[in-house]
Amino acid sequence: MTSDIQSLPRKLRRLSDRLIYRFSSYRPQLLDRIDFARLQAEAGDYFHLSPEELSTSFQRYRRFHEERGYEQSLGESRTLSFEEAFLVFLSLQRIRPEKIVEIGTQYGKSTRRILDMRPLLDLEARVTCFDILDELRFVTRDEINLVIRDISGEFRAVLEKEGPAFIFLDARPYPLLKEVVSEFLAWSLERPAILAIHDCSPGLYNPKMRLPKDQPERISSRSGVWERHVLAEVLSMPESSLADARTATHHLRVFSTRHGLALLAPHRVLDPKNR
Ligand SMILES: C[S@@+](CC[C@H](N)C(=O)[O-])C[C@H]1O[C@@H](n2cnc3c(N)ncnc32)[C@H](O)[C@@H]1O
Repeated sequence: MTSDIQSLPRKLRRLSDRLIYRFSSYRPQLLDRIDFARLQAEAGDYFHLSPEELSTSFQRYRRFHEERGYEQSLGESRTLSFEEAFLVFLSLQRIRPEKIVEIGTQYGKSTRRILDMRPLLDLEARVTCFDILDELRFVTRDEINLVIRDISGEFRAVLEKEGPAFIFLDARPYPLLKEVVSEFLAWSLERPAILAIHDCSPGLYNPKMRLPKDQPERISSRSGVWERHVLAEVLSMPESSLADARTATHHLRVFSTRHGLALLAPHRVLDPKNR
């Protein structure tokens, strides 16, 4: 009885969320058909790779992806898709990190793909994973440094302690997204690093997002996610110009992948002269 009463507000909230979604003009739209030519052009432009270089990396990663059977074992939805993993592969190839940080690990599907890329690129990077829940399934505890803790308000300290050159951000809370992007922009001025952010697709952007910013448990693709709101706010630019955006110091690209993987890096890291 007591638990019934306690769950009542949550049930009412779910019901009200459902009603809001029903009458909202926003509908989530994920890219089902990937235009490889477009994606390769976007990646070539971002990383300053020639079509030949890009094609070699693409064939290599595709062979690896097929040998591992990721599509069957990990799936392509609600985690890194093949194309998104390929962009992570290009990022690791470029930055050659000694340390990697993942925020939002869940079952470890994206972590599995990232860990497996290391031998392919001859990297020994240590991977530290943060989540608030321990639901790990696809990697073992001794393969990573798993930290079950909310790092909201502490990301600067995480950067200083871990010193990651590659960060994969896949967690929903608005304040955390804002903190990670803002801190990364300042920190990466001093050190070469790349930040990858999942779920930045225009199809997951609800311009009339009605959820309070402090209730991450209510966020889903049906409500719309905060990623593009945060990027537009932190970079001080309209949401419509996020696909390919340059500031004086950084280059942001939201790639045409299923969930819209975004990469953010200082120009210096992407400059072909520094390869
Ligand atoms: C979309 S899932 C991550 C999926 C995973 N990266 C994958 O591709 O398989 C989001 C995760 O973020 C976690 N999360 C939520 N709030 C967080 C916080 N403040 N810090 C770290 N992780 C958080 C959730 O518990 C959830 O496991």
